[in-house]
Amino acid sequence: MHIHAYEKLWLAASILLILLLIGSVTYGAVGPGVAMVSDTEPAIDAGGLDEDERFSEPRVEQVGENEYEAYVVAYQFGFEPDPIVVPENSRVTFYVTSRDVIHGFEVAGTNANTMVVPGEVSEITVETDEPQEYGLICNEYCGAGHHVMEGKVNVVS
Ligand code: CUA
Repeated sequence: MHIHAYEKLWLAASILLILLLIGSVTYGAVGPGVAMVSDTEPAIDAGGLDEDERFSEPRVEQVGENEYEAYVVAYQFGFEPDPIVVPENSRVTFYVTSRDVIHGFEVAGTNANTMVVPGEVSEITVETDEPQEYGLICNEYCGAGHHVMEGKVNVVS
């Protein structure tokens, strides 16, 4: 196959653009207060959360010296538990699922932010620093009460 020089140039330019896009998505995960990484595990029965080991009792559990796991359920129109109480200077992984429709899970003023999809478990890890009360907001339209759907994340000493 014969490729003209300018076609090679275009090819190189488009590959570079793709790499830049991937880079910009992968990057951008660090911010003030809490830093986060996010990904999503598949497969949970949104209608059967009451029987689910992790989500029948939404809670925060200590899993290491300064390590915690928070199991959070989003619903129309709130979050459970509320407030979510986590210690300062620790690493907290939030596992968030929905019992009804798509919601958002955004810790206001930080870049901790994920979509919450029924049937899936979204995972976000944050590092807490000083005690502070954060608002928790839903940033996906989820019905009539969307604008009043909120919670709290309290970082305590
Ligand atoms: Cu839940 Cu908007």
